[in-house]
Amino acid sequence: MDDLVLRPLREDDEPAVAEALQDVDILRWAVGSAVAEAPHQDRARAWLLPRLSSWDTGSAVFAIADALHGRMLGALSIREVNRLPDQAVVTYWLRPGARGKGAAARALNAAARWGFSSVEEGGLGLHRLTLDHAVLNLGSCRVATRAGFGIEGTMRDFYVDATGTRHDSHLHARLATDPDGEAARL
Ligand SMILES: CC(C)(COP(=O)(O)OP(=O)(O)OC[C@H]1O[C@@H](n2cnc3c(N)ncnc32)[C@H](O)[C@@H]1OP(=O)(O)O)[C@@H](O)C(=O)NCCC(=O)NCCS
Repeated sequence: MDDLVLRPLREDDEPAVAEALQDVDILRWAVGSAVAEAPHQDRARAWLLPRLSSWDTGSAVFAIADALHGRMLGALSIREVNRLPDQAVVTYWLRPGARGKGAAARALNAAARWGFSSVEEGGLGLHRLTLDHAVLNLGSCRVATRAGFGIEGTMRDFYVDATGTRHDSHLHARLATDPDGEAARL
């Protein structure tokens, strides 16, 4: 991941978030209805503000950024860290201009390695990371698989998008004892 870094979010990421939240796929698959339904001009702040302090409330939220300038290309969250012992849930999105280069799979693989590393090493000491995506979201399925998150099953009507439509979703998971995904070699 030489050309990418995972870094904390910053207030000056707001223009990049505002641009990203114009993308129909991000609105449909990757942000909650509170953000998707907010007035257009308020969406970026509605997404960014709670996430700037999310490390205090049990979520590790990163900007996926280019290593050279730190420009925000997307976001990756490890959520619900304290809900079940040793487990958490990952979500991610990329700005449209940053897609098509395998960046999400590489970021996901790197985030998993960090989440599984011990607290003494600066990680989260997790054992199991899960993620889910609507079965229709084929790109996300590839991202998960390439990052070593195998499919564990289909959850019927699991995801409700901002229009209220329900979607069957794949559950993917990776354990601390699983090997790196092929994304580690990209
Ligand atoms: C999902 C997302 C992060 C992937 O971005 P990316 O890392 O640039 O992914 P890529 O464009 O490199 O595509 C990854 C793989 O999926 C495939 N893919 C992408 N879109 C696809 C589609 N619509 N149909 C089939 N395959 C698709 C690519 O061909 C590629 O396959 P490969 O691994 O065999 O090369 C990005 O599309 C996104 O932000 N989408 C909106 C938000 C979202 O869906 N987040 C996930 C919520 S669960």
